[in-house]
Amino acid sequence: MRRAVVIGASGQIGRPAVAALERDGWDVTAASRGGGRDESWGPGVRAVRLDRADDGALAAVVGDGCDLVVDMVAYDAGHARQLTDLAGRIGSAVVISSVSVYEDDKGWGFDTLDEPDGFPAYPVPVAETQPTVAPGEATYSTRKVALERELLAKGADLPTTVLRAGAVHGPYSPLPRELYFVKRHLDGRNGRVLAYGGESRFHPASARNIAELVRLAAARPGTRVLNACDPQAPTVAGIAAAIDALMGAEPQTTLVAGPPPAGSVGRTPWSVPLPVVFDMSAAGRELDYRPVVSYEESLPETVEWLRRRLAGGDWRERFPLLARAYPDLFDYAAEDAWASGT
Ligand SMILES: NC(=O)c1ccc[n+]([C@@H]2O[C@H](COP(=O)([O-])OP(=O)(O)OC[C@H]3O[C@@H](n4cnc5c(N)ncnc54)[C@H](OP(=O)(O)O)[C@@H]3O)[C@@H](O)[C@H]2O)c1
Repeated sequence: MRRAVVIGASGQIGRPAVAALERDGWDVTAASRGGGRDESWGPGVRAVRLDRADDGALAAVVGDGCDLVVDMVAYDAGHARQLTDLAGRIGSAVVISSVSVYEDDKGWGFDTLDEPDGFPAYPVPVAETQPTVAPGEATYSTRKVALERELLAKGADLPTTVLRAGAVHGPYSPLPRELYFVKRHLDGRNGRVLAYGGESRFHPASARNIAELVRLAAARPGTRVLNACDPQAPTVAGIAAAIDALMGAEPQTTLVAGPPPAGSVGRTPWSVPLPVVFDMSAAGRELDYRPVVSYEESLPETVEWLRRRLAGGDWRERFPLLARAYPDLFDYAAEDAWASGT
Protein backbone atom coordinates (compact mmCIF):
# COMPACT_ATOMS: atom_id res chain seq x y z
CA MET A 1 0.00 0.00 0.00
CA ARG A 2 1.26 3.52 -0.76
CA ARG A 3 2.14 5.45 2.35
CA ALA A 4 1.71 9.21 2.78
CA VAL A 5 2.89 11.47 5.60
CA VAL A 6 0.88 14.68 5.97
CA ILE A 7 2.50 17.45 8.05
CA GLY A 8 -0.10 19.84 9.48
CA ALA A 9 -2.86 17.29 9.04
CA SER A 10 -5.35 18.59 11.61
CA GLY A 11 -5.73 22.07 10.06
CA GLN A 12 -8.29 23.35 7.59
CA ILE A 13 -6.51 22.03 4.49
CA GLY A 14 -5.05 18.96 6.17
CA ARG A 15 -8.38 17.50 7.25
CA PRO A 16 -9.95 17.22 3.79
CA ALA A 17 -6.56 16.42 2.19
CA VAL A 18 -6.02 13.44 4.48
CA ALA A 19 -9.59 12.30 3.84
CA ALA A 20 -9.10 12.58 0.06
CA LEU A 21 -5.86 10.59 0.18
CA GLU A 22 -7.46 7.91 2.34
CA ARG A 23 -10.37 7.61 -0.09
CA ASP A 24 -7.80 7.18 -2.86
CA GLY A 25 -6.30 4.18 -1.09
CA TRP A 26 -3.36 5.82 0.67
CA ASP A 27 -2.22 4.68 4.06
CA VAL A 28 -1.87 8.07 5.78
CA THR A 29 0.23 9.16 8.74
CA ALA A 30 -1.47 12.40 9.82
CA ALA A 31 1.01 14.51 11.77
CA SER A 32 0.55 17.66 13.82
CA ARG A 33 1.86 18.95 17.15
CA GLY A 34 -1.39 18.05 18.88
CA GLY A 35 -1.84 14.77 17.01
CA GLY A 36 -5.49 15.69 16.27
CA ARG A 37 -7.87 13.59 14.18
CA ASP A 38 -10.79 14.56 12.02
CA GLU A 39 -14.00 12.65 12.60
CA SER A 40 -14.24 11.86 8.89
CA TRP A 41 -10.97 9.95 8.86
CA GLY A 42 -11.19 6.18 8.82
CA PRO A 43 -8.91 3.31 9.78
CA GLY A 44 -6.47 4.12 6.96
CA VAL A 45 -5.30 7.16 8.91
CA ARG A 46 -2.89 7.07 11.84
CA ALA A 47 -2.68 10.38 13.72
CA VAL A 48 0.70 11.13 15.31
CA ARG A 49 2.24 14.00 17.24
CA LEU A 50 5.04 15.83 15.45
CA ASP A 51 6.63 19.25 15.74
CA ARG A 52 8.22 19.71 12.32
CA ALA A 53 10.83 21.99 13.93
CA ASP A 54 12.44 18.81 15.28
CA ASP A 55 14.41 17.32 12.36
CA GLY A 56 14.89 14.00 14.15
CA ALA A 57 11.20 13.65 14.92
CA LEU A 58 10.32 14.43 11.29
CA ALA A 59 12.83 11.84 10.04
CA ALA A 60 11.34 9.30 12.47
CA VAL A 61 7.82 9.88 11.14
CA VAL A 62 9.07 9.41 7.57
CA GLY A 63 10.81 6.28 8.86
CA ASP A 64 12.46 3.92 6.36
CA GLY A 65 10.58 5.65 3.64
CA CYS A 66 7.23 6.86 2.35
CA ASP A 67 5.82 7.44 -1.09
CA LEU A 68 4.53 10.94 -0.40
CA VAL A 69 4.94 13.86 1.99
CA VAL A 70 2.30 16.58 1.98
CA ASP A 71 3.46 19.68 3.83
CA MET A 72 0.87 22.23 4.94
CA VAL A 73 3.17 24.18 7.26
CA ALA A 74 6.27 24.89 5.16
CA TYR A 75 7.15 28.56 5.34
CA ASP A 76 10.82 29.02 4.41
CA ALA A 77 13.94 27.57 2.78
CA GLY A 78 14.82 25.72 5.98
CA HIS A 79 11.53 23.84 5.82
CA ALA A 80 12.27 22.95 2.18
CA ARG A 81 15.69 21.61 3.16
CA GLN A 82 14.12 19.46 5.85
CA LEU A 83 12.26 17.68 3.06
CA THR A 84 15.04 17.61 0.46
CA ASP A 85 17.49 16.25 3.07
CA LEU A 86 15.16 13.23 3.27
CA ALA A 87 14.83 12.97 -0.52
CA GLY A 88 16.17 9.42 -0.66
CA ARG A 89 13.39 8.32 1.65
CA ILE A 90 10.47 10.27 0.16
CA GLY A 91 8.94 9.39 -3.22
CA SER A 92 7.44 12.81 -3.93
CA ALA A 93 6.08 15.86 -2.16
CA VAL A 94 3.18 18.28 -2.33
CA VAL A 95 3.83 21.57 -0.55
CA ILE A 96 1.42 24.42 0.13
CA SER A 97 2.61 27.87 -0.87
CA SER A 98 0.62 31.03 -1.46
CA VAL A 99 -0.53 33.31 -4.27
CA SER A 100 1.06 36.10 -2.25
CA VAL A 101 4.37 35.28 -3.97
CA TYR A 102 3.39 37.14 -7.16
CA GLU A 103 4.45 40.65 -8.09
CA ASP A 104 3.19 42.89 -10.89
CA ASP A 105 5.33 44.41 -13.62
CA LYS A 106 6.20 47.37 -11.37
CA GLY A 107 7.34 45.12 -8.55
CA TRP A 108 4.23 45.66 -6.39
CA GLY A 109 2.82 42.67 -4.56
CA PHE A 110 1.22 41.57 -1.29
CA ASP A 111 4.02 43.18 0.70
CA THR A 112 3.21 46.61 -0.72
CA LEU A 113 -0.60 46.44 -0.44
CA ASP A 114 -0.76 49.24 2.10
CA GLU A 115 1.82 51.55 0.52
CA PRO A 116 0.54 54.58 -1.40
CA ASP A 117 -0.13 53.30 -4.96
CA GLY A 118 1.47 50.02 -3.88
CA PHE A 119 -1.47 47.79 -4.70
CA PRO A 120 -0.39 45.33 -7.43
CA ALA A 121 -2.00 45.66 -10.85
CA TYR A 122 -1.97 41.98 -11.72
CA PRO A 123 -3.14 40.61 -15.04
CA VAL A 124 -6.56 38.96 -14.83
CA PRO A 125 -6.15 36.11 -14.29
CA VAL A 126 -2.61 35.61 -12.96
CA ALA A 127 -0.86 32.55 -14.41
CA GLU A 128 1.96 30.66 -12.72
CA THR A 129 4.40 32.29 -15.16
CA GLN A 130 3.84 35.68 -13.50
CA PRO A 131 7.05 36.90 -11.80
CA THR A 132 7.37 36.44 -8.06
CA VAL A 133 9.02 38.64 -5.45
CA ALA A 134 12.67 37.92 -4.75
CA PRO A 135 13.35 35.14 -2.24
CA GLY A 136 14.49 36.27 1.18
CA GLU A 137 13.90 36.22 4.88
CA ALA A 138 12.05 39.52 5.15
CA THR A 139 8.38 38.62 4.83
CA TYR A 140 5.92 35.75 4.61
CA SER A 141 5.90 36.11 0.79
CA THR A 142 9.68 36.31 0.31
CA ARG A 143 10.10 33.27 2.58
CA LYS A 144 7.49 31.36 0.59
CA VAL A 145 9.45 32.14 -2.60
CA ALA A 146 12.65 30.91 -0.94
CA LEU A 147 10.79 27.72 0.03
CA GLU A 148 9.57 27.21 -3.53
CA ARG A 149 12.95 27.85 -5.16
CA GLU A 150 14.72 25.45 -2.84
CA LEU A 151 12.19 22.71 -3.54
CA LEU A 152 12.11 23.24 -7.30
CA ALA A 153 15.91 23.26 -7.52
CA LYS A 154 15.95 19.77 -5.98
CA GLY A 155 13.08 18.47 -8.09
CA ALA A 156 15.25 15.80 -9.71
CA ASP A 157 15.85 14.23 -6.29
CA LEU A 158 12.43 14.94 -4.84
CA PRO A 159 9.64 15.60 -7.37
CA THR A 160 7.54 18.31 -5.77
CA THR A 161 4.24 19.93 -6.62
CA VAL A 162 4.00 23.44 -5.17
CA LEU A 163 0.40 24.59 -4.71
CA ARG A 164 -0.10 28.35 -4.47
CA ALA A 165 -3.28 28.75 -2.47
CA GLY A 166 -5.64 31.73 -2.66
CA ALA A 167 -7.80 32.95 0.24
CA VAL A 168 -8.39 29.58 1.91
CA HIS A 169 -11.83 28.90 3.36
CA GLY A 170 -13.62 26.05 5.07
CA PRO A 171 -14.27 24.62 8.53
CA TYR A 172 -11.37 24.83 11.00
CA SER A 173 -10.02 27.96 9.34
CA PRO A 174 -7.79 30.04 11.61
CA LEU A 175 -8.55 33.02 9.33
CA PRO A 176 -12.25 32.70 8.44
CA ARG A 177 -12.89 35.79 6.30
CA GLU A 178 -16.54 34.67 5.93
CA LEU A 179 -17.06 35.70 9.56
CA TYR A 180 -17.33 39.28 8.27
CA PHE A 181 -20.83 38.61 6.94
CA VAL A 182 -21.79 35.65 9.16
CA LYS A 183 -21.27 37.52 12.43
CA ARG A 184 -23.17 40.56 11.17
CA HIS A 185 -26.17 38.31 10.53
CA LEU A 186 -25.82 36.57 13.89
CA ASP A 187 -25.66 40.02 15.53
CA GLY A 188 -28.81 41.11 13.69
CA ARG A 189 -27.10 43.94 11.81
CA ASN A 190 -29.47 45.22 9.15
CA GLY A 191 -27.14 47.43 7.19
CA ARG A 192 -23.71 47.07 5.74
CA VAL A 193 -21.38 49.06 3.54
CA LEU A 194 -19.27 47.69 0.71
CA ALA A 195 -16.40 49.78 -0.64
CA TYR A 196 -15.30 49.67 -4.28
CA GLY A 197 -18.96 49.25 -5.27
CA GLY A 198 -18.89 45.69 -3.89
CA GLU A 199 -17.01 44.68 -7.05
CA SER A 200 -13.71 43.63 -5.41
CA ARG A 201 -12.47 40.18 -6.31
CA PHE A 202 -9.94 38.39 -4.15
CA HIS A 203 -9.79 34.77 -5.25
CA PRO A 204 -10.99 32.25 -2.64
CA ALA A 205 -9.76 28.68 -2.38
CA SER A 206 -11.91 26.04 -0.72
CA ALA A 207 -9.85 23.66 1.41
CA ARG A 208 -11.80 20.89 -0.38
CA ASN A 209 -10.56 22.03 -3.79
CA ILE A 210 -7.00 22.26 -2.49
CA ALA A 211 -7.41 18.76 -1.07
CA GLU A 212 -8.45 17.55 -4.52
CA LEU A 213 -5.32 19.12 -6.01
CA VAL A 214 -3.25 17.36 -3.34
CA ARG A 215 -4.90 14.05 -4.22
CA LEU A 216 -4.27 14.47 -7.95
CA ALA A 217 -0.68 15.68 -7.53
CA ALA A 218 0.00 12.73 -5.22
CA ALA A 219 -1.18 10.35 -7.92
CA ARG A 220 1.01 12.00 -10.60
CA PRO A 221 4.32 12.97 -9.02
CA GLY A 222 6.17 15.76 -10.80
CA THR A 223 7.97 19.02 -10.28
CA ARG A 224 5.59 21.87 -10.97
CA VAL A 225 3.98 25.01 -9.58
CA LEU A 226 0.21 25.35 -9.72
CA ASN A 227 -2.29 27.92 -8.54
CA ALA A 228 -4.75 26.43 -6.06
CA CYS A 229 -7.98 28.39 -6.09
CA ASP A 230 -11.73 27.98 -6.58
CA PRO A 231 -13.29 27.76 -10.05
CA GLN A 232 -14.59 31.33 -9.74
CA ALA A 233 -13.54 34.48 -7.97
CA PRO A 234 -16.85 35.97 -6.83
CA THR A 235 -17.20 39.68 -6.11
CA VAL A 236 -17.55 40.80 -2.49
CA ALA A 237 -21.20 41.58 -3.25
CA GLY A 238 -21.55 38.03 -4.60
CA ILE A 239 -20.00 36.54 -1.46
CA ALA A 240 -22.32 38.66 0.68
CA ALA A 241 -25.37 37.57 -1.32
CA ALA A 242 -24.42 33.88 -1.06
CA ILE A 243 -24.07 34.11 2.72
CA ASP A 244 -27.32 36.13 2.99
CA ALA A 245 -29.17 33.45 1.04
CA LEU A 246 -27.77 30.67 3.18
CA MET A 247 -28.57 32.43 6.44
CA GLY A 248 -31.97 33.74 5.31
CA ALA A 249 -30.97 37.37 5.82
CA GLU A 250 -31.93 40.41 3.75
CA PRO A 251 -29.73 43.26 4.94
CA GLN A 252 -29.57 46.65 3.27
CA THR A 253 -26.35 47.15 1.38
CA THR A 254 -24.82 50.57 0.77
CA LEU A 255 -22.34 50.49 -2.08
CA VAL A 256 -19.56 53.08 -1.98
CA ALA A 257 -17.84 53.71 -5.28
CA GLY A 258 -14.27 54.18 -4.09
CA PRO A 259 -12.14 53.05 -1.17
CA PRO A 260 -13.52 52.65 2.37
CA PRO A 261 -15.08 56.04 3.17
CA ALA A 262 -14.08 56.22 6.84
CA GLY A 263 -11.48 53.98 8.48
CA SER A 264 -12.63 50.38 8.32
CA VAL A 265 -16.17 51.22 7.15
CA GLY A 266 -16.92 49.20 4.02
CA ARG A 267 -13.65 47.27 4.13
CA THR A 268 -14.25 43.52 4.10
CA PRO A 269 -11.39 40.99 4.04
CA TRP A 270 -11.87 40.73 0.26
CA SER A 271 -12.09 44.49 -0.40
CA VAL A 272 -9.33 45.27 -2.86
CA PRO A 273 -9.07 48.17 -5.30
CA LEU A 274 -7.92 45.95 -8.19
CA PRO A 275 -8.80 42.34 -9.00
CA VAL A 276 -6.67 39.56 -7.50
CA VAL A 277 -7.73 36.58 -9.60
CA PHE A 278 -5.74 33.47 -10.52
CA ASP A 279 -5.68 31.27 -13.59
CA MET A 280 -6.62 27.67 -12.79
CA SER A 281 -6.12 26.28 -16.30
CA ALA A 282 -2.63 24.84 -15.65
CA ALA A 283 -3.99 22.56 -12.93
CA GLY A 284 -6.59 21.36 -15.41
CA ARG A 285 -3.94 20.66 -18.05
CA GLU A 286 -1.33 19.12 -15.72
CA LEU A 287 -3.52 17.10 -13.40
CA ASP A 288 -6.95 16.96 -15.07
CA TYR A 289 -8.08 18.93 -12.06
CA ARG A 290 -11.79 19.63 -11.80
CA PRO A 291 -12.97 21.61 -8.78
CA VAL A 292 -15.03 19.49 -6.39
CA VAL A 293 -16.97 22.41 -4.97
CA SER A 294 -18.04 25.95 -5.96
CA TYR A 295 -17.78 28.84 -3.51
CA GLU A 296 -21.54 28.72 -2.85
CA GLU A 297 -21.55 24.94 -2.41
CA SER A 298 -18.72 25.15 0.10
CA LEU A 299 -20.48 27.66 2.34
CA PRO A 300 -23.01 25.61 4.37
CA GLU A 301 -20.41 23.61 6.30
CA THR A 302 -18.25 26.70 6.84
CA VAL A 303 -21.14 28.80 8.12
CA GLU A 304 -22.36 25.98 10.37
CA TRP A 305 -18.86 25.57 11.78
CA LEU A 306 -18.55 29.32 12.35
CA ARG A 307 -21.87 29.42 14.21
CA ARG A 308 -20.76 26.62 16.53
CA ARG A 309 -17.26 27.99 17.01
CA LEU A 310 -18.50 31.48 17.82
CA ALA A 311 -21.38 30.46 20.11
CA GLY A 312 -21.13 32.37 23.35
CA GLY A 313 -17.59 33.51 22.72
CA ASP A 314 -15.71 36.61 21.74
CA TRP A 315 -14.59 36.53 18.10
CA ARG A 316 -11.12 37.85 18.96
CA GLU A 317 -10.62 35.05 21.45
CA ARG A 318 -11.96 32.38 19.09
CA PHE A 319 -10.05 33.64 16.03
CA PRO A 320 -6.90 35.38 17.25
CA LEU A 321 -5.18 35.20 13.87
CA LEU A 322 -8.16 36.84 12.17
CA ALA A 323 -8.26 39.53 14.87
CA ARG A 324 -4.57 40.28 14.33
CA ALA A 325 -4.96 40.41 10.54
CA TYR A 326 -8.16 42.48 10.61
CA PRO A 327 -8.51 44.20 14.01
CA ASP A 328 -11.45 46.44 12.97
CA LEU A 329 -13.62 43.82 11.31
CA PHE A 330 -16.69 44.59 13.42
CA ASP A 331 -16.52 48.30 14.23
CA TYR A 332 -20.29 48.77 14.22
CA ALA A 333 -20.03 52.13 16.01
CA ALA A 334 -17.92 53.54 13.17
CA GLU A 335 -20.39 52.20 10.60
CA ASP A 336 -23.37 53.72 12.41
CA ALA A 337 -21.59 57.05 12.83
CA TRP A 338 -20.75 57.15 9.12
CA ALA A 339 -24.27 56.14 8.13
CA SER A 340 -25.79 58.90 10.27
CA GLY A 341 -23.31 61.44 8.92
CA THR A 342 -21.72 62.16 12.28
N1 LIG B 1 -5.29 30.91 5.24
C1 LIG B 1 -5.10 31.35 4.01
O1 LIG B 1 -5.91 32.11 3.48
C2 LIG B 1 -3.89 30.89 3.23
C3 LIG B 1 -3.66 31.48 1.98
C4 LIG B 1 -2.57 31.02 1.22
C5 LIG B 1 -1.77 30.02 1.69
N2 LIG B 1 -2.01 29.49 2.93
C6 LIG B 1 -1.11 28.45 3.39
O2 LIG B 1 -1.85 27.39 3.96
C7 LIG B 1 -1.00 26.70 4.88
C8 LIG B 1 -1.71 26.56 6.20
O3 LIG B 1 -2.68 25.58 6.05
P1 LIG B 1 -4.00 25.58 6.93
O4 LIG B 1 -4.78 26.81 6.61
O5 LIG B 1 -4.61 24.26 6.77
O6 LIG B 1 -3.39 25.80 8.38
P2 LIG B 1 -4.11 25.61 9.79
O7 LIG B 1 -5.57 25.40 9.65
O8 LIG B 1 -3.60 26.71 10.66
O9 LIG B 1 -3.48 24.23 10.28
C9 LIG B 1 -2.13 24.10 10.55
C10 LIG B 1 -1.86 22.64 10.83
O10 LIG B 1 -0.49 22.46 11.03
C11 LIG B 1 -0.25 21.94 12.35
N3 LIG B 1 1.02 22.53 12.75
C12 LIG B 1 1.29 23.81 13.05
N4 LIG B 1 2.59 23.95 13.36
C13 LIG B 1 3.15 22.72 13.24
C14 LIG B 1 4.46 22.22 13.44
N5 LIG B 1 5.46 23.01 13.85
N6 LIG B 1 4.67 20.90 13.24
C15 LIG B 1 3.67 20.08 12.86
N7 LIG B 1 2.41 20.50 12.65
C16 LIG B 1 2.15 21.81 12.85
C17 LIG B 1 -1.48 22.34 13.15
O11 LIG B 1 -1.78 21.49 14.23
P3 LIG B 1 -1.07 21.67 15.65
O12 LIG B 1 -1.35 23.09 16.06
O13 LIG B 1 -1.68 20.63 16.50
O14 LIG B 1 0.37 21.44 15.39
C18 LIG B 1 -2.54 22.11 12.07
O15 LIG B 1 -2.75 20.73 11.89
C19 LIG B 1 0.26 27.52 5.02
O16 LIG B 1 1.26 26.95 4.22
C20 LIG B 1 -0.16 28.87 4.50
O17 LIG B 1 0.93 29.60 4.01
C21 LIG B 1 -3.05 29.89 3.70
